Amino acid sequence: MRASRPEQAPPAAPPLRIGVVGLGMAGALMVSVIRDHARAVLAGAAEPHESLRQRFAADNEAPVFADIESLLRRDDVDAVYIATPHQFHRDHVVLAAEHGKHIVVEKPMALSLADCDAMIAAAERHKVTLIVGHTHSFDPSVRVMRELIASGEYGKLMMLSGANYTDFLYRPRRPEELDTAKGGGILFNQVPHQIDTVRYLTRSRLRSLRAATGILDPRRPTEGNCSVFLDFEDGCFASLTYSGYDRFDTDEWHGWVGEGGYPRKAAHGATTRSWENFKNPEEELAARVERFGYGGSAAPASRIPVHQPHFGVLIASCEKADLRQSPDGVLVYSRDGVKEIPVPMRPGRPGRSDVLDELCDAVQCGVAPAHDGAFARGTVEASLAILKSAQERREVIL
Ligand SMILES: NC(=O)c1ccc[n+]([C@@H]2O[C@H](COP(=O)([O-])OP(=O)(O)OC[C@H]3O[C@@H](n4cnc5c(N)ncnc54)[C@H](O)[C@@H]3O)[C@@H](O)[C@H]2O)c1
Repeated sequence: MRASRPEQAPPAAPPLRIGVVGLGMAGALMVSVIRDHARAVLAGAAEPHESLRQRFAADNEAPVFADIESLLRRDDVDAVYIATPHQFHRDHVVLAAEHGKHIVVEKPMALSLADCDAMIAAAERHKVTLIVGHTHSFDPSVRVMRELIASGEYGKLMMLSGANYTDFLYRPRRPEELDTAKGGGILFNQVPHQIDTVRYLTRSRLRSLRAATGILDPRRPTEGNCSVFLDFEDGCFASLTYSGYDRFDTDEWHGWVGEGGYPRKAAHGATTRSWENFKNPEEELAARVERFGYGGSAAPASRIPVHQPHFGVLIASCEKADLRQSPDGVLVYSRDGVKEIPVPMRPGRPGRSDVLDELCDAVQCGVAPAHDGAFARGTVEASLAILKSAQERREVIL
């Protein structure tokens, strides 16, 4: 069984020229990924914050604009990576499609199914590729799990278990990130990683789900923990738990390798204590832009992963073996004991480079993307169903 991505034929096409829309936390990270990618070049950026534009301009030759349309009007931009806040995803995707640009839009795709439909229709109408990511379903070790499951060596996939305990709620936030109706909280920001991943592994349609959610701290008035049971059409089922209250931390079960593949130390409660030092929401917002935006001291772009990324603990139980992500591969537990299938580090940033691979494969080689608009719509549908199930305390049929 191969443990790495299938080799691609060298592309005949010139590199894909990609612009980045939004130079906040997600956009800043993707700038470095585009710069390091063999089949892409950084073609520009759009960002309303002047300080972030200045930092970008100091590091890069590519032009940077205060508005998205100036970027989209350029002929030397083939594709855009849209990393603006959720509420802009629909309009920015439709606009990009109208300008003939291929698109990667960050998760969540949108906050309603009607918006997802409008985005899918715009991409189809203008014949451009639409991919939604990054989510952790792009992680190389998740893909290896998917290949192992598809090989049939361990029998049929029967059950998936996922748990992630983090400090999500207390990281510096924009006000809308704490308002569920505006896409705040874990249901639209964190749980989609888990849902995407189990949907990617099962390859089956989600039939129904039953969920319960909690708001444990009234100072952060949006869902911060959740358990959900998902029932798939092919008989596979999954249970997922997420908690973002900065207490227990599942990185402890992952050898203190953090989500991005960086070694880290235990720091229970440190994010909460740091947040409690902000005098007001304005100070918190300013810290979010300065620290997490392009060139900021806490921007993940400054850290180089040395292990595979992950999103907590994930176990896939097949008829004859359990598979689990490890920091450097996939562990296979069976009657023969346990063995590790290594997932070698490739150049670039695992997970996010894979998003660009999928975009380049689609645009340059005509390969249908796995994480297209229709797939991502299914994850939005599940997030909305989780909210409904929790509110009505019943199973929701999809
Ligand atoms: N996949 C992941 O792991 C991951 C991680 C973080 C964020 N995200 C997603 O990325 C998106 C952005 O989140 P973030 O944490 O980077 O937020 P952020 O606030 O750090 O960054 C968003 C940036 O977009 C800019 N912006 C707003 N309107 C704009 C416009 N019209 N044109 C250009 N730029 C504009 C803002 O000024 C800001 O700098 C969200 O949808 C979020 O869910 C995904």
